[in-house]
Amino acid sequence: MNFKSIRDMDLQGQKVLLRVDLNVPAQRSQVMDTTRIDRLKPTIDHLRDAGARVLILSHFGRPEGEQNPAMSLAFLLPTLEECWGCEVRFAQDCIGPKAEKVASSLQDGEVALLENLRFHKGEKANDPDFVMQLAALGDVYANDAFSAAHRAHASTEGLANQLPAAAGLLMEQELNALDAALEHPKKPVTAIVGGSKISTKLNVLNNIVKKVDYLILGGAMANTFIFAQGGNVGSSLCETDMKNEALKIMETAREHDCKIVLPIDSVVSEELKLNAPSEVVSSSDIPDGKMAIDIGPQTIAAVEDILEKSKTLLWNGPMGVFELKPFDKGTNALAEKAAALTKAGTLSSIAGGGDTISALENANVCEDFTYISTAGGAFLEWLKGKTLPGIAALENAAKAA
Ligand code: 3PG
Repeated sequence: MNFKSIRDMDLQGQKVLLRVDLNVPAQRSQVMDTTRIDRLKPTIDHLRDAGARVLILSHFGRPEGEQNPAMSLAFLLPTLEECWGCEVRFAQDCIGPKAEKVASSLQDGEVALLENLRFHKGEKANDPDFVMQLAALGDVYANDAFSAAHRAHASTEGLANQLPAAAGLLMEQELNALDAALEHPKKPVTAIVGGSKISTKLNVLNNIVKKVDYLILGGAMANTFIFAQGGNVGSSLCETDMKNEALKIMETAREHDCKIVLPIDSVVSEELKLNAPSEVVSSSDIPDGKMAIDIGPQTIAAVEDILEKSKTLLWNGPMGVFELKPFDKGTNALAEKAAALTKAGTLSSIAGGGDTISALENANVCEDFTYISTAGGAFLEWLKGKTLPGIAALENAAKAA
């Protein structure tokens, strides 16, 4: 890593502005999944043990610079206290007198949460005045929000230029795991990429075909590739206008010795609903009026064979409409296989991205994967091979120090 870690710093009595990502799934002020909060505990423990005074910075939702009570962070306090096992105080603003009052009254080892950064337009705009107002609250900046590192905002980028800056423990863990999967992996490396559109993952696909040995494509995006090769995909979701892009990706894959694996057989149905009547047909000969909603048994077996000979797996996106049973079968079968091989010690399995985590949770395998990233959009940006602004800012800060 080319940046400092909070482990390298003497933090006794220091006010640490800790950027985290508390943009957690919530319904009616109830946290639906505490993964992002749980994963921050080692950082919180480290800072408290080191005698730091911890000021937590986060966004929640997209309030677009308006004070929106529905997006206040206050509802998180009981969950934070339970998950982190410590008292968490609250400041009703992230800058100005309210934030200063809480910051100046914190004692060594204490933690306070500051209100949603995005209540101020300066956060998204990375406005220098807003950055200075945040910086005035602390002595040190720590970034533990890998999942927000694709945003060049005041708290993810600007602050790193104003205060001594370091990465938190979750940030380090995420980057180490992802680096081991794509930059320095044990070969053969297989990527499973699913989801509905190649248009949203075009740059991801273009980057990873240069790095992996096998690229397994599933979900509706596979239909576009099958269509591009002259197959009939019936009424399946398919981006016909992306035909040339699909062919180009296949060409790049050939140039880099990456084998693209498309579904051989598909589970098809006339309608997209729970337990809809279905049949298995050839993926390149889907009858008109029917659509592919999952991969079929021959495809599952073929991918399982590839997983058996792989040493590293990178997974993003489901293989079918896993939200509707029984069309989660393909995703579940591959997830279970990957989990079993990981448990047996022959495969290192890394997954990330929004609906990927829900799909793997549905398959009940999250515990057995080597690493599951907390990031959604940032994971995809990273898969494109880009240096994320939040990471670049930490690297630049280390160079300048
Ligand atoms: C996420 O949930 O992926 C991050 O918190 C980023 O959120 P954003 O897309 O609103 O910037």
